[in-house]
Amino acid sequence: MNIKNNHDLIHQLEWRYAVKKFDSQKKIHKEDWAAIEKSLVLTPSSYGLQPWKFIVVQSPETRKKLTPLSWNQTQVEDCSHFVVFANLSKLDQRYIEDFIALTAKTRGVAEEKLEGYKKMMLTNLLHGERSQHLNEWATRQCYIALGNLMTTVAVMGIDACPMEGIEPQKYDEVLGLKGTAYQTSVACAVGYRSAEDFYAKLAKVRFNPEAVVTYK
Ligand SMILES: Cc1cc2nc3c(=O)[nH]c(=O)nc-3n(C[C@H](O)[C@H](O)[C@H](O)COP(=O)(O)O)c2cc1C
Repeated sequence: MNIKNNHDLIHQLEWRYAVKKFDSQKKIHKEDWAAIEKSLVLTPSSYGLQPWKFIVVQSPETRKKLTPLSWNQTQVEDCSHFVVFANLSKLDQRYIEDFIALTAKTRGVAEEKLEGYKKMMLTNLLHGERSQHLNEWATRQCYIALGNLMTTVAVMGIDACPMEGIEPQKYDEVLGLKGTAYQTSVACAVGYRSAEDFYAKLAKVRFNPEAVVTYK
């Protein structure tokens, strides 16, 4: 699917819906998945800190364990790729220092030149008011990645279902996140809709633009 104009873009966004029933026989091609993975990694984040892990659950056994922890939603096992977004729940000085070192190396600048940037992050996220809400902050970043994923796949003509109907703490146990610096925030099933998915036929329910968009 190539987006050549605004009409095509809107068409794909209207085509997208939260899939309830995937065609379990249809798998995403390797090259397409590589582009989707890249789009996850390219997601912007506050300060650029990328406080996340994207866990692509491929093992059928693990997915089977996750189904009852997902309100028994069938998408977990029927989709092609099941992505769990885990957010950083503990941020420390080391994380910020490593990120500064990466930025310096990537951009060919001396780390000393990034001292102000580093200080700002330390002050705001480690020592400031936001340090009390770090988990929420990192979770929000994961939701940006979720939005990015949904739009990317819609443009590619690939389906998805964002999933908050999960038990994050139990996911952490199954995925081995317990005791790590990361915890489950949300998930997304990606693949191809089943021809039998009744939800594909439903009209979109959205407020009028005038009700939600204002220009001042
Ligand atoms: C963050 C988030 C979590 C959601 N969780 C679920 C879920 O667990 N299961 C499900 O079937 N749909 C889930 N949905 C889908 C919404 O119900 C759906 O996006 C909404 O009703 C709008 O419909 P549409 O996406 O088909 O346009 C979720 C959507 C979002 C954005």
